[in-house]
Amino acid sequence: MPDMPADEFRRVGHEVVDWIADYLAGIRDYPVVSHVQPGELTQLLPTSAPEQGESIDDILADFRSLVIPGVTHWNHPRFHAYFSVSASAPGILAEMLTAALNVNGMLWKSCPAATELEQVTLGWLREWLGLPPEFFGIIYDTASISTMHAIAAAREFIDPEARTRGSLPNLTVYTSEQAHSSVEKGAIALGIGRDNVRKIAVDADFRMIPAALAQAIEQDISAGRKPCCIVPTAGTTSTSSIDPIPAIADIAERYHAWLHVDASYGGAAAVAPELRHILDGTSRAHSMVINPHKWLFTPIDLSAFYTRRPDILRRAFSLVPEYLRTAEDTSAVNYMDYGVPLGRRFRALKLWFVMRYFGHERIADLIRAHIAWAHELAEDIRSDERFELSAPVPLSLICFRYKGTDEQNRTLLDRINASGIAFLSHTVLNGKFVLRLAIGNIKTTERDLEQVWSFIQSMADDLV
Ligand SMILES: Cc1ncc(COP(=O)(O)O)c(C=O)c1O
Repeated sequence: MPDMPADEFRRVGHEVVDWIADYLAGIRDYPVVSHVQPGELTQLLPTSAPEQGESIDDILADFRSLVIPGVTHWNHPRFHAYFSVSASAPGILAEMLTAALNVNGMLWKSCPAATELEQVTLGWLREWLGLPPEFFGIIYDTASISTMHAIAAAREFIDPEARTRGSLPNLTVYTSEQAHSSVEKGAIALGIGRDNVRKIAVDADFRMIPAALAQAIEQDISAGRKPCCIVPTAGTTSTSSIDPIPAIADIAERYHAWLHVDASYGGAAAVAPELRHILDGTSRAHSMVINPHKWLFTPIDLSAFYTRRPDILRRAFSLVPEYLRTAEDTSAVNYMDYGVPLGRRFRALKLWFVMRYFGHERIADLIRAHIAWAHELAEDIRSDERFELSAPVPLSLICFRYKGTDEQNRTLLDRINASGIAFLSHTVLNGKFVLRLAIGNIKTTERDLEQVWSFIQSMADDLV
């Protein structure tokens, strides 16, 4: 028996599922942030892998006693750092099945169900977001990779020779000062280079200024440069500001540049029909990205990328060796043709589970609740004279600070995070250190938020 016997798998499998069920039910008992020091786990583990196999019970015991203390609990309802993400139970079950099937969805032939479920679930999601039916969907691992593919498609659109010759030195990418670093990283990876990424100024509410974008493009064209790709954001990382996409789409059309909307976090809000305005103008984009692993309760990783020009994406990447040719090449989608990765996990399965289990209304209600609680908490913060809001709250992220020094705000953040009660992160806005509190975990309740806010208030008493 080269693999684990079925009986043992069944026994330990039940134990693992029991552990997961208890973990999810009792997650509030864990400190949100791991308190281990760098190197602590490494020191507890052998430097070489075992020569002889070990018992699964010993491995699981070490998982519980050694690994878990080094885990920061992203699934904790009071995890409010970065963006608050969560793996819902149906998504976790689907991940188990994905691992069991272990298919590689590189070609339709290599797993027809993986390809077709990806097409179907992305079609459903496209409908929930109110995006046009001509948008072709593909799943990548992360938004950073989705955006890199968008910039590669933009380069193919502007300069089809790039695929053979390499990038022209004058291709230019435009995004805002508040955009995620993945835009610049995409330009780095593609050989466009950071010097050729323009970070357009933002207004007082941290939204890209369209007139400044047009001016930068005009200046670049006069200097012999070629606008390639414009990347506005619906829900920026620091403040969740939403760039004026319709005005930016006008500019992209005027200068024939590829328009890619980064809606990695904010796009999820459009699942609620009354919030679809967040994606206004996105139907005019060449491509967009939304991460169901951020605010749609799908376990990491799953990034949904849509483009109205799959022909260009395919032209940029399709390279088919003889051994990967199939009889269905002309009648089915082979997702390996639309990006760098050949091997592809069956990620669509978890999105299918999540969308079916909760349904449109329940997911929209969760998102509405998160936004409403963020507004209530922002009101509470505003009415405590020791604190101030540092940015508008269009979605479920609150940026605020103690009206004191940066040092005091840093101390406050460190004390909150050391307490184990909650995890917040920070940013710098207008030169000031600011605390970020993101709401988005499926288990977060109003009670959690009340607890976090009264704890922050008590910590502020100590600061004085
Ligand atoms: C607006 C935005 N874009 C892109 C990303 C990158 O996401 P990923 O971790 O999926 O690469 C983030 C991450 O928080 C983000 O906030």
